[in-house]
Amino acid sequence: MQTIGLTELLRLCFPGKNHLLSVKIISADWRRCRIPWLSLDFKSPSICVKICDYLRASFKLLNLYFCFMEKDYPGYFTANKEAWNKRTGVHKDSAFYDLAAFKAGKTALNKIELEGVGPVKGKSLLHLQCHFGMDTLSWAREGATVTGVDLSDAAIALANEINDELQLDARFICSNVYDLKENLQGQFDIVFTSYGTIGWLPDLDKWAGIVNHFLKPGGTFYIADFHPALWMMDDRFSTIKYDYFNTSVIAEENTGSYTDREAPIRTEEYSWNHPFSEILMSLINQGLTITLFEEYPYSPYNCFNNLEQGADGMWRIKGMEGKLPMMYAIKAVKKI
Ligand SMILES: C[S@@+](CC[C@H](N)C(=O)[O-])C[C@H]1O[C@@H](n2cnc3c(N)ncnc32)[C@H](O)[C@@H]1O
Repeated sequence: MQTIGLTELLRLCFPGKNHLLSVKIISADWRRCRIPWLSLDFKSPSICVKICDYLRASFKLLNLYFCFMEKDYPGYFTANKEAWNKRTGVHKDSAFYDLAAFKAGKTALNKIELEGVGPVKGKSLLHLQCHFGMDTLSWAREGATVTGVDLSDAAIALANEINDELQLDARFICSNVYDLKENLQGQFDIVFTSYGTIGWLPDLDKWAGIVNHFLKPGGTFYIADFHPALWMMDDRFSTIKYDYFNTSVIAEENTGSYTDREAPIRTEEYSWNHPFSEILMSLINQGLTITLFEEYPYSPYNCFNNLEQGADGMWRIKGMEGKLPMMYAIKAVKKI
């Protein structure tokens, strides 16, 4: 059996920072990997991630990571909620979201999802990860009866404020997608999610189960999001930095936001990359029938570094125009 001294481990991972940590060993060994099973109880999940990275590199044990990851979901979600609360404060006044134009009547939706989802008049629509609700409220303006859900209480408070001001009839719920069954009843004609969503979710099987649960028989699920290939790249699109596969949580500390890189906020964030096999199979395994799958070499948003706008209004990576897929859309139908 391999063993590792905890003092040595901490010294290697965090020279000079051992005071931040408290560690206990709860049982002797984890049979499959034949190393001691450690229960790590840290002040910040990012510290746990670093420890796991170290253990993984030392013992070449991919599975070890997931054991720790499972334990720390609440820590990841709490940090992400805080990050999105901070971002909401920046986003509401940004030119990127242009709330004033939205309030004056401009839709926040793009041609891609408007055409992809199709007419919504008279239909019920559940919007997962709705941020502060501009897309949700745009669907309301298109005639749907809408419910928006988001983890960030600041985003949901702002969404409710805008809804009241515009006298629209949306319902907004502050909930983790994974806890939605406890916070929402009923089924919907359409479940919708878009642009920057599933990367915040570690487990797509569980996510697809939620999607399926809230879809009426015959109902439609639609997602438009950034392409898994894009999430492999560093933030200048100059090198492959992240795994294509969902091998580990991506723990990062960032400053600013995609609406304003200089915004005075600092965020601790946890995200996950999902290959297409994982995305598609999560939906297929729920019995949903995929009726549309499209990939696009552009983004409707200028939300990454190093993009250039084309004559069609879409944003492409400077010097790599058309070479890398930037987004995709999937439509799936629940059997009657
Ligand atoms: C990039 S935004 C969604 C983009 C949206 N199309 C927009 O720009 O208005 C991602 C949203 O996901 C939410 N989110 C992250 N993790 C979540 C979770 N586990 N459950 C529910 N919402 C979550 C965040 O609070 C954030 O508002």
